[in-house]
Amino acid sequence: MNVGAARDPLLARRSGRIVAEDVSFRTRLLEIAAGLDDVIAMGRGDPDFHTPQHIVDAAKRAIDANEHHYTHPAGLPALRDAIAATLARDFGIHYDLDEVIVTAGVQESITLLMLALIEPGDEVLITSPRFTTYDQAVVAFGGVPVPVPTYERDDFALMPAEIEARITERSKVLVLVSPNNPTGAVTPPEVIRQIADLARRHDLIVISDEIYAALIYEGAEHLSIAAVDGMRERTIVLNGFSKSHAMTGWRVGYLAGPKSFVRMLVDPRHMLSINTATPSQFAALAALTGPQDAVEAMRQAYAERRALMMRSMDALGLSYGFPGGAFYLYVNTSATGMQSPAFCETLLREGRVMLFPGSLFGDDSDLYTRMSYLQPLDRIEEAMGRLARVVERHRA
Ligand SMILES: Cc1ncc(COP(=O)(O)O)c(C=O)c1O
Repeated sequence: MNVGAARDPLLARRSGRIVAEDVSFRTRLLEIAAGLDDVIAMGRGDPDFHTPQHIVDAAKRAIDANEHHYTHPAGLPALRDAIAATLARDFGIHYDLDEVIVTAGVQESITLLMLALIEPGDEVLITSPRFTTYDQAVVAFGGVPVPVPTYERDDFALMPAEIEARITERSKVLVLVSPNNPTGAVTPPEVIRQIADLARRHDLIVISDEIYAALIYEGAEHLSIAAVDGMRERTIVLNGFSKSHAMTGWRVGYLAGPKSFVRMLVDPRHMLSINTATPSQFAALAALTGPQDAVEAMRQAYAERRALMMRSMDALGLSYGFPGGAFYLYVNTSATGMQSPAFCETLLREGRVMLFPGSLFGDDSDLYTRMSYLQPLDRIEEAMGRLARVVERHRA
């Protein structure tokens, strides 16, 4: 045994699956922000709206009614029924109750799926820039993440040729995220059909992360790849409540797929956390079966903020890909003369606006910065003014 191991036996024996240090640039920005007054946070993907009251009330009622025991590991049957009905109504995809598993956010669905699908050496193609949880989950099970780049010239849509160029005999899974985080890109229906054709030809499993599909704006259209002919049997759809219903902290998401495979996931799902917190499941049930006007009001508020952000970037001459969905703008900030991480740090220190660089989303070009519009309109207006002043100062 070496001296280091004797002094720190846990750290010395950690598995190769975890990284040793936590020095992410995100942490650095958060620490700088903590020492500043009046920072306008437009970094994280957490809605500023509160969860609609009728959803909160449903959870309270569940607690008072002693609905706080274990549920079926796949989730409350009534919730799974409501999820299946919602998927049929909104996306034209049809699942039975036992083809749905409720998880602790989409996050847990991602882990569960990689656990169930990945053998060492399997390659997973992932829409990029990307939500890097996918990389971590793939690596945790010995797989190899293969980012598939998207480009501003295509409005960051996932292009079939870019996927095809990266297919090898080890390719097993394609992770399609549309609308995407961090770009807000919606891959158009005709391109989704081409990707479906490619997935069938190359025998790829598709994980379709549609967590932002309820947030689509004028000029964009969402098509679930599971709705394309011949795709249901090779697709798992992921969705949840965090973004559409401002429910990030409740931790409810779900997966839906063909029965033969989904039934095999129930035991490993039990192994991870038994079931999603029961009051949260009742909240999610109310979210789907109750009034939807609060959801539409949030979407309209996001649409107004998005328009303001686009106007502000146009006025500054900073380009971006057309953001068809989600609540992000992915902006080329290289005209500031700074790489994106330096720009984010400068903007935070001098302008007290917090944004996240593309490098946090696996984009090593250092050209792009993600701006989330999860602040009230007047705060976004103030942030855009501060940003313009910092940009003009450094561009001069
Ligand atoms: C693309 C994508 N998938 C999944 C998640 C995780 O969401 P949840 O809160 O449902 O775990 C996020 C969160 O930001 C995301 O952006």
